[in-house]
Formats: sequence, C-alpha cells, structure tokens
Amino acid sequence: MHAPRHWVGPRACLKTGRLLVGAKCLLRAPVRVEKSFFGLLFASFVRCGLIYHVFLMANIQQAELKLPDGQVVTLPVVIGTEKEPGVDVRSLRDQTGFITYDDGFANTGSCSSSITFIDGEKGILRHRGYRIEDLAADSIFLETAFLIIYGELPDSDELSKFRARISSSASVHEGMRHFFEGFPDSSHPMAILSAMLNSLGCYYPEMTSHKEQMDQERFDWAAALLISKVRTVAAMSYRTKRGLPFVYPRWDLRYAANFLHMMFSEPYRDYNPKPEVIDALDLILLLHADHEQNCSTSTVRMVASSGANLFASVSAGVGALWGPLHGGANAAVIEMLEDIQASGDDGRKAIEAAKQGKRRLMGFGHRVYKNYDPRARILGEAAKRVLTSMGIQDPLLVIAQQLEQAALTDDYFISRKLYPNVDFYSGIILRAIGIPVDMFPVMFAIGRMPGWIANWREVASNPKLKIHRPRQIYNGATERDYVSLEKR
Ligand code: CMC
Repeated sequence: MHAPRHWVGPRACLKTGRLLVGAKCLLRAPVRVEKSFFGLLFASFVRCGLIYHVFLMANIQQAELKLPDGQVVTLPVVIGTEKEPGVDVRSLRDQTGFITYDDGFANTGSCSSSITFIDGEKGILRHRGYRIEDLAADSIFLETAFLIIYGELPDSDELSKFRARISSSASVHEGMRHFFEGFPDSSHPMAILSAMLNSLGCYYPEMTSHKEQMDQERFDWAAALLISKVRTVAAMSYRTKRGLPFVYPRWDLRYAANFLHMMFSEPYRDYNPKPEVIDALDLILLLHADHEQNCSTSTVRMVASSGANLFASVSAGVGALWGPLHGGANAAVIEMLEDIQASGDDGRKAIEAAKQGKRRLMGFGHRVYKNYDPRARILGEAAKRVLTSMGIQDPLLVIAQQLEQAALTDDYFISRKLYPNVDFYSGIILRAIGIPVDMFPVMFAIGRMPGWIANWREVASNPKLKIHRPRQIYNGATERDYVSLEKR
C-alpha cells in the first residue's frame, strides 16, 4: 500500500503552469519567479536567516540550493500525481550539515500517501480520487471508510463482508466493562476513549504481535474491530458518566443508527430516531473520515513508524485530536456561540475581539484551506435541513450564520483567508441530535478512525519504513560546568 512516487517532467508541468504556482506554495515565502530564454526558473526567498536559491531547471528534475557559504547543493524534485512539487531534502544534512527548519511543519511533506488529496487554495478535497461532494451526496460512512482503507469503492459482496465484520465486532469484552467503573465521574470521554482503544490491544494479542507482517495478516479484522468498537466504547462512556446502564448493540441496525441506539435507548424502551437524524450523523462521520496529514493522523503515523501496533497508534491519535485547535474545536464552537448568545451579542463584538487578538473565532481558519472548507459548506446546508426536519429553531444556528456572513465580508478575515472549517456547523447538528458537548471530539474520533487505520497501514506496509525522528535547532545554553547544590 505504500504510495508509488510519481516523477513528472517539469516541462509537462510548465505546460500547465502548475510548477510555477506549486513552487510558490511550497516555499511559502515572498518569491520572485523569473523565466529566462533557456527556460530556467529562478526563485529566491529568505527564510530563517538562511538565503536559499532554488533553481528549477526546465529539463532537469532537480533543484539547486545555494547556502550562505556559496556551496550549491543539488536536490531531487518530487512531484505527486496531482502535480504537487516538492524538493526531496533527505540528503541535505549528509551533503552540507544543514537541516531544514519548519516549525509547525506547515511546509514539510512528512510522507507520500495515496489516500487523500487536498488543494487548500481551491477548496478541493478528494479521497482516493473521489470528490468529497460526490461521496457526501451518494455514499455512506462505511462505504467511504472501505474506500479510504482499501483504495477502491467496494462491490456489493465486499461491502456486505465489511459490514458483517463490523456488526459482529460491536460488543466489547465483558472484562472491559469493569474498566468503566474505575473512571471518576469527572473523566473526559476522550481520556476514556484513548485508554480503551489502547486496552483493546490486550484482548487481541494476535493483532498486536510486534511482527508487522503478522499484524497485517490480521489487519482486516483489526480494522473492523476498531471501526465497530470505537462507537460502542464512545456510547459506554456517555452512559457511565450519567449513571445509565449500558445498552448492547443490535445486529439489525446500520452503523449510525446502532450508535444512537447504544446512546439513547433504554433497556425498557427503544430510541427510534427520524431517518433524517440517522442520515445527518452518518454524513458527519463520512465528512470526518480522513483529512491527510493533520495533527492526529501525523501522530498515528509517527507512533506507527516505531513499529507500534494499530491499537496503540490510534489511541495516540485520540490524544492529539482532543485539543481545541484540532478535534476539540467543534465543542469550542458551541461554547463560543453560547457565550455570544449569553452576552446579547449578534456576533459583531466577537469579530472585533478576534481582530484585536483577544479571542479566536472557533471553527474558522485552517492550516491547509485558504478557501471555504468544502465540508463546512456541506454541513452548513445539512444543519438547516436537520433542524427543520426536527422542528428545532436553534438560536445558535442564527448566530453562527450571522457570524459567518460578517466574517466573510470583513477585511481581517478576507486578507488572512479565514473561512469556516468542518467544525463550524457540525456541533449545531450534534447538539440537535442530543449529543452533549463533551462528546463532540469523540464523534470526530469515530469518524476519523478509517483515516487513521488507512494511514497506519501505509506506514506498516512500507518496505522502506523509517522511524519518524525529526531534528531540531537547539537554542538552549551552551556547554557549562556543573555547579554543586551548596554553590547555587
Ligand atoms: N480567528 C481569528 N484569527 C485567526 C483565526 C481564528 N480562528 N485563525 C487564524 N487567525 C489569524 C491569526 O491570528 C494569524 O493572524 P496574524 O497573521 O495577524 O498573526 C493568522 O490568522 C494566521 O494564523 P495561524 O495561527 O498562523 O494559522 P495556523 O495555520 O497556524 O492555524 C488553526 C490554523 C486551525 C489552528 C487556526 O486557524 C485556529 O486556531 N482556528 C480556530 C480553531 C479551529 O477551528 N480548529 C479546527 C481546525 S479544522 C479541524 C481540524 O482539521 O482539526
């Protein structure tokens, strides 16, 4: 499953003009680009105190980097199937002693991957080549999960088998029920989720062999187990916190409906949601299924790169997802909208506060999208549909829409290319369904599971696997002598 590397001649790229544009994006700095008679492309930029000169030659798939001492290094250019160009710097340190410095990795390709493509400037998101808009309209979460993990849409046989594996894996070992008794009421469901996913590995030692080949032979079952049980564990953590008895999964219910059943049914009364509610939840999960090298997925890949098993790797992913700048943002959006409502603001004061750097507009902005996040557009429409079908008039939806309109016409947001992201409307739908705010990042984790699994597999099945081990620019004290306690 390791992605093949595609080398495309720069001339082909020049014909489409993509290399020029791509080179600008790649370097992420003011770039002066000139094209000489011989087709020599020259880009220069100043970054981190070093002066780099990158020459992209029309006929040579190489970049040249000029260092301050005049040394010129030749580095290969790598170009993806969507013509995204990159400079392969793997030999840089060996050749020169220099490393690249890129705090936050905003400019660093940590891997090559064939799962998801994003063009943030144009607001494009595709899984395995399929447009997110088409998947949202015509697919369902489990089918998209299969696509993301295995690379192709399933035929009906494959989908039935995948579903059957997931349905038959829905319950958790009785021993794990007792874990829930040990967590105090104050436990955050993300902490429980991370602990439980890691513990699952203890119950399936044959899938955590520490022999990558063996793990991969059992991969189909491990993947199904995780997609299924993440939902059960999530519902169990919700019910424990409220002192409610666990509700067992049902064989006859589809994925999203089964989750709602485990959350909201009682032993004496079934919860029967409207089809619109089930569809909306399925859509939210589908829209979260993968998003290339985000913080949690990169964490999963980082952990996997040491040879760690799938359970340990996704458990670490939950930790990374939890923060308010990532998967915790959906909860932070609702808290922000509630704040705005309580203060009697229509959104204008919040926007002013954001412009003065006093707060961030949660659910706005994205590291990769410098255009409307296509998932936010789909969810904005879905929010209106679901609330209407449920007969709910949520004042938070009105505030969110006002906020969005005001931000989209404000220079601060326009100049920084800050648009609503996936988290802006998902919380309003989850709230309408009755999911409490502390469970919002858990919902994100259930949706993201296929992406984490697919990324783990890319790492584990890479025959040239290298442990992820970045370097740093050290800026601490230089060498000094130890001072004994009495002299300090
Ligand atoms: N509200 C107000 N200003 C913002 C916001 C925001 N939400 N996001 C970025 N900015 C400003 C920021 O202050 C900076 O301004 P200046 O250039 O004057 O210093 C500029 O925009 C660039 O910001 P940045 O922090 O360098 O951008 P980043 O790429 O490092 O951060 C982000 C991306 C998503 C963390 C950030 O936009 C943010 O904090 N958004 C709110 C949290 C959020 O919604 N997170 C969910 C992301 S989508 C789901 C996921 O993939 O996890």
